[in-house]
Amino acid sequence: MTGMDSENPNSTNSSNSGGRGADPAGRVVAVTGAGSGIGRATARAFAAAGARVVAVGRRPEPLRDTAAGHDRITPLPLDITDGDAPERLARAVSERYGRLDVLVNNAGIVRAGALGTLTPELITAQLSVNLVAPVLLAQAALPLLEASGGVIVNVSTSVGQRAWPGNSVYAATKAALELLTRSWAVELAPRGIRVVAVAPGAIDTPIGEHQGLTPERRASVRAWQVAHTPLGRIGRPEEVAWAITQLAATAASFVTGVVLPVDGGAVVA
Ligand SMILES: NC(=O)c1ccc[n+]([C@@H]2O[C@H](COP(=O)([O-])OP(=O)(O)OC[C@H]3O[C@@H](n4cnc5c(N)ncnc54)[C@H](OP(=O)(O)O)[C@@H]3O)[C@@H](O)[C@H]2O)c1
Repeated sequence: MTGMDSENPNSTNSSNSGGRGADPAGRVVAVTGAGSGIGRATARAFAAAGARVVAVGRRPEPLRDTAAGHDRITPLPLDITDGDAPERLARAVSERYGRLDVLVNNAGIVRAGALGTLTPELITAQLSVNLVAPVLLAQAALPLLEASGGVIVNVSTSVGQRAWPGNSVYAATKAALELLTRSWAVELAPRGIRVVAVAPGAIDTPIGEHQGLTPERRASVRAWQVAHTPLGRIGRPEEVAWAITQLAATAASFVTGVVLPVDGGAVVA
């Protein structure tokens, strides 16, 4: 299959025989940022429910780890900001499975910076991954999603809904993603495609490491987040994955245009 990791011993050959569990139709799901954190948990949750999952990320090794022991997950190493990435993903899924039921726009990056310190590179990097790529991936996937009566799930954030000093550009990309979610829900409803989003609060993933924060800074951020989360703890990636699979489930057929916080109550506190 074009671009896919054909050497993956866990590739989803066996899954063409149909689904099981809560995804009895053996739906096909593409998850971006599936090499770690929320994306990894989401890929595994869909696979456990019987879906066939294409796991997208830049680095092959983490994707292989995501797929290890999960024979329905197939890695697809891909930088979603590459010009041909949307077409490559759509073509790869189409050639392998002939369908796509769910696109999870999960990949995201954080680059902190207050106004006065921002560089074009910092701004562009976040816009490219968090905003431009999800738009173009969704656009390239439209014919497949229309054919399947599919679902787009965008991953936003519940942190910084009102203001996020020091992270305004990141917050702006997520605010825009939520507006895209609502707008596409209305645009695509006549074509039978649902569009939803989840807004995680503080979740235990390597996002702080990927951002380049020191261990001390990560610890102080986490302490602040726990203090501002009514449930009094950091969430688990699996808790966000649960919400994503539920919103994408065929039983959620009358749900579209929503943004579901998965944040221990942070956004309402
Ligand atoms: N963790 C939290 O507290 C939290 C809170 C609110 C919202 N979120 C959102 O949740 C989503 C998942 O974040 P996470 O916490 O799970 O962080 P993470 O562990 O850093 O996961 C992000 C993933 O995106 C991939 N990625 C980054 N740039 C990419 C690119 N250009 N092309 C393809 N893949 C790319 C990374 O893998 P590669 O580097 O290998 O590409 C990585 O696996 C993000 O959208 C984030 O904004 C997280």
